[in-house]
Order: sequence, then structure tokens, then C-alpha cells
Amino acid sequence: MVELDIVREIAVGAGEILLQKLEAGVAVEAKGAIDLVTDADKASEAFVVAELRTRYPSHGILAEEGGRSAGSSDFLWVVDPLDGTTNFAHGLPYFCVSIALVKGTEAVLGVVYDPVRRECFAAEKGSGAFLNGRRLAVSTTQAVQESLLAAGFPYDIATSERNNLEPFARVSRASQGVRSLGAAALDLCQVAAGRLDAFWELALQPWDLAAGGLMVLEAGGTVTSCAGERFNPLGHDICASNGRIHGELLALIGLQPR
Ligand code: IPD
Ligand code: CA
Ligand code: CA
Repeated sequence: MVELDIVREIAVGAGEILLQKLEAGVAVEAKGAIDLVTDADKASEAFVVAELRTRYPSHGILAEEGGRSAGSSDFLWVVDPLDGTTNFAHGLPYFCVSIALVKGTEAVLGVVYDPVRRECFAAEKGSGAFLNGRRLAVSTTQAVQESLLAAGFPYDIATSERNNLEPFARVSRASQGVRSLGAAALDLCQVAAGRLDAFWELALQPWDLAAGGLMVLEAGGTVTSCAGERFNPLGHDICASNGRIHGELLALIGLQPR
């Protein structure tokens, strides 16, 4: 079985755990005032990490709930066992499992699984991006004015100046709409699928953006930081678009490199 098939199977297994937990009733704990964790995050992560450890004992793992364990090779798995926890905790059916493989500073493989729609997004560096086996391509929209976009806000939105509210207002006025859907990894896949023209967010973690970022690149899009720097799958912000609107969008976001 090739690597991508193995990782797809793991992501689908984790997604099934999330659906079972959702059906059984979600036990929610608070990490911060609006940052939640559920027993489903933990069960999904335990499954994914155990599978990866067994199959790839020399690889490192960076997982949201359990942190980083070093490996003896320069391969690192980057895992979000449940992206969209706030949606999940409220019973809103928009969440996913995200698994990326990073070598050095480059994402080489990414799988994002939406268990509600049974949509499995998968990409390998240089081989394209696929949704349930069908090749993906970004949209061909030429201008922000004709675009539908998505953006997200950080958990410290109430206290941080880098809370994305002003860029959100500027892009909202200039476009056909900006959605805030609440699962960054899945939002990025919607860009890869041409359902959204772009997505950006300022204060993310590697597990939110590594797999989805690769998906957009492999679907022919452009991926940078929100200040236009080269995409870093271990970074903390992302602007991913169909490429055609990228410069215009970055100018509206209006951030300088830090
Ligand atoms: C969050 C989601 C959300 C984004 C947050 C992330 P979580 O991940 O991706 O869309 O706005 O910044 O932390 O906590 O649901 O895994
Ligand atoms: Ca996340
Ligand atoms: Ca998560």
C-alpha cells in the first residue's frame, strides 16, 4: 500500500471516531476562555498517533494535544486530530482531521478528512491534489471583487491587536463575501477544490495549515504568509488563494513581514 493510502485510511479511522463521539454526546473542557478541547480530540489523536508510531517509528510527531516527540529521521508528522473543535462542541457539522508529513521545512504529504461529507482530500508534493480520487484545481476568478473568501480569527481575539478584524472588514467591502467557517484545515481544502477563491488567517499553528497549505499548492494555487513570504508548513499564518487574486488580497490584508 502506498503512503498516501495508509494516511487516508488513518484519517478516515479518526473521522469515524469523531462521528461516534458526536453521536454519543460531547464532553467539553475549556483550554482558555473560548479555546475548547473535547474527549473526541483526545480519542482521535490517540488513534492517529498510535497508528503513525507503529508504521513510522523513526519519524517525529507534532500533535495538537500531545505536543512534539522527536524521531531519528528528519520526517515530522503534523497532526490536528479535530480541526473545528468549537463547531464540533456546538454540534455544527463542519470539522475535520488533518495530517501532514513535513520533511525539513517542506510539506511532502497532506490528508484532510471531513467525516460529515465523507470527503477525503489528499496531496503529495509534485503529484497533485485529489478529493476522493478526483483531481482538484483552484478557481479561475480574476479579481477580489468577484471572489468568495474565508478567514479566521485567533482565540485571543478580544485582547490581541493582530486579531484580523480590520483586514476582514476591508476584504468584506471589496469582495462578494468573507466567511468564517471555523476549521482552517478544511477551509484551505475548499480553496484547493475551487469552492472558495482564498483563505487567510494570522495566528494559526502548524497542525492547522500544513496539510491544507500543500493541498492548495498542489491544486495550482499560491500559498504564502499573510505578509507574502514563502509558505512555511511549520509557520503560524497563511494566505492561500487561486493565485490570480493573491497580490490584490495581500494588499488588502495590508501586513508587513515581521
Ligand atoms: C481552530 C480552527 C479555527 C481557527 C483557529 C484554530 P481547533 O483549530 O482551525 O478555524 O480559527 O485559529 O485554532 O482549535 O478547532 O483545532
Ligand atoms: Ca486546528
Ligand atoms: Ca484541534
